[in-house]
Amino acid sequence: MNVLLLGSGGREHAIAWKLNQSSKLTKLYIAPGNAGTASVGQNININIRQFDEIKDFVLSNNVNMVVVGPEQPLVDGIVDYFLSDKSLQNIPVIGPEKAGAILEGSKDFAKEFMSKYNIPTAKYQTFTKSTLEKGKLFLESLKAPYVLKADGLAAGKGVLILNDLDEAKNSLAGMLNGQFGDASNKVVIEEFLDGIELSVFVLTDGSNYKILPHAKDYKRIGEGDTGLNTGGMGAISPVPFVDDKFLNKIENKIIKPTIEGLKQEDICYKGFIFLGLIKVNNEPYVIEYNVRMGDPETEVVIPRIKSDLLELFVHTANGTLNQITLQEDERFCSTVMLVAQGYPESYEKGKEMNNLHLIKDSILFHAGTKSCDDKILTNGGRVIAVSSYGKDMVDALKLSYDNADKVSFEGKYFRKDIGFDLK
Ligand code: AMP
Ligand code: GLY
Repeated sequence: MNVLLLGSGGREHAIAWKLNQSSKLTKLYIAPGNAGTASVGQNININIRQFDEIKDFVLSNNVNMVVVGPEQPLVDGIVDYFLSDKSLQNIPVIGPEKAGAILEGSKDFAKEFMSKYNIPTAKYQTFTKSTLEKGKLFLESLKAPYVLKADGLAAGKGVLILNDLDEAKNSLAGMLNGQFGDASNKVVIEEFLDGIELSVFVLTDGSNYKILPHAKDYKRIGEGDTGLNTGGMGAISPVPFVDDKFLNKIENKIIKPTIEGLKQEDICYKGFIFLGLIKVNNEPYVIEYNVRMGDPETEVVIPRIKSDLLELFVHTANGTLNQITLQEDERFCSTVMLVAQGYPESYEKGKEMNNLHLIKDSILFHAGTKSCDDKILTNGGRVIAVSSYGKDMVDALKLSYDNADKVSFEGKYFRKDIGFDLK
């Protein structure tokens, strides 16, 4: 099969790395990819928000399947675009149609969906500019801290957690007055849940599903989970506090009603569901849905899948996921993200990277890199993820850290305490 994978981060390198191991794969294209994906497939320079460009490429290169890494093309309706075009409708796209992608694209929709299908989540109400005063009253009825969420996609920055009531009221007004552009035309205010977070991934064909290895990521830039939010600074899988009993709760109270809800709503969903969960008093609650894999969670989840990923995707497309079993690697996996100095605020690109060839016992998943002549240069805030297996978390992390020290580029920074809260 010829496969086109959309995206350019560490998540896409991990997916490409795994697809490249499939006996079913003939040719793998990645658009636009990075220096890492170029080692397991062919990068192509097309704009993944221009569906006509994707169509031309798919038809002229005999592509048999499209796999979507990031959420944006899904929220923009790439699945609907393929289904409505006669020349494309038999080429499966792994990902939900637009009506499903809205689970990530609109927090208000996601909350309404969860309340309709009795899926545990924080209590909430949604406000618009015309209901600002009611929103302030709702804030007064809650206890600090106050959680304010822009309804739409806001590049991961649309959630504010504030301790002071007046500040929360002012922020609500600011958001409804366009602080995040159209994304904050509606604002969800919700009850703060105090617990420990984890990420659970499901691959569904719309009716059957496989629960993939779960993970925990570390979003803050600073050690001890301090400082600004980032795309993610590291991850581990499995999560030590998730036992079979807790996983059963997640399956019965969250995964099954989610899949059932999608069916009831007549949403065509053949792809990943990423459940951002929080454990409070030993019960799982949904913090958010994403319609893609997590990053950097993918860099620890994918290495722990033993099954052929392309075969899983074929069954996803055909609606036959019930016909195969998912095989997992029993080992732990950790990843440590090396980032550019200044990230997640402004940072420089184009720094030469060295010593990558010295890394033998970890897997390097490139995030923001590019090739230039025979050099590899940094090309983003998150630069490269160092993923390692181990018999336990400490063992895996030791390898990731040994190798994180070896990779060199000017301004390299990484958190040295991934997994600190789980030891
Ligand atoms: P989200 O974009 O919805 O995942 O929110 C970003 C982050 O804010 C989450 O990963 C949590 O750490 C935090 N968060 C969101 N909602 C809540 C909540 N209701 N209670 C506590 N923390 C939250
Ligand atoms: N690591 C969190 C995310 O991908 O949204």
